[in-house]
Amino acid sequence: MRIILVWTVWSSGVRRGHQDTWANLQFYPARCTLWPMRETQAIIERVRRVSDTLQQLHLSVDPSLAQAQAGQSLFAAPLNGGESYLREQWIPVGLREGQMVVEIPSAHPYTPGQVVSLLAPLGRAIPLRPHLQHMLLIANDALPTPFVWLAGDLCARGAAVTLVLGGRALAYPLELLPAEVEILRADTDWRWPDQVETLTWADQVIALAPPYACAEVYAGLYDTISQLRVQNVPDGYVFGLYYYRLACGTGACLACQIPGQKYDLLACTDGPAVDLKKVAFR
Ligand code: FES
Repeated sequence: MRIILVWTVWSSGVRRGHQDTWANLQFYPARCTLWPMRETQAIIERVRRVSDTLQQLHLSVDPSLAQAQAGQSLFAAPLNGGESYLREQWIPVGLREGQMVVEIPSAHPYTPGQVVSLLAPLGRAIPLRPHLQHMLLIANDALPTPFVWLAGDLCARGAAVTLVLGGRALAYPLELLPAEVEILRADTDWRWPDQVETLTWADQVIALAPPYACAEVYAGLYDTISQLRVQNVPDGYVFGLYYYRLACGTGACLACQIPGQKYDLLACTDGPAVDLKKVAFR
């Protein structure tokens, strides 16, 4: 087993244009520490087709991954399928009986017994506000797989969860979601019934858009919430999930940069959930 320690301070300084002296480096507060990722191996124990386009893989994983939380993912590559240049980001939907279950497109054929290399955990757990009672989740034109684990955890602790599905998200099999989750269907354009009421009701909002639309739709959502809250959006109130195609997954290549208000962020190490108050939309 190999431990990979990624120190992103150098790249942070370079991005700010301070390459001359250490004294001029401006460290990102969230990444001032050595950030551990482990390279481990997992065995695919079970492959379950859950829809025409989706499958769930049950993985026996290294015990260290038992500490993973909703929002964190796996950077995976099959060991016996040849070394692929780019790893795939696998999104867990839960930990069940010691196995991690991930949900991925069924276009990629996997079989029980296959061994995969994992770089994990990738990214950070989705931050939750203290004393959260009402969570509003919104998925539009992106399958709500990243919400499954989170919604299950929230329901288990007694929070009320409403999930808005729009566009491509409407094709998601609802039986894969916790039964306690309230489902609302969105129209086009990120609008849904009782939009103002649900946004006012929520203690926290988390949105999911496809990578190509993140900048535009998250800007629109943040604008709507700003108007409702008279420009006083609390820190950590509305998050956008960023699932950009990742190259290194470790904060080294800067391919997944998100323009920020004070400093730029990275989807792989700062995300996937990013406080939209910290994002520079224009
Ligand atoms: S910095 Fe390389 S994928 Fe995020």
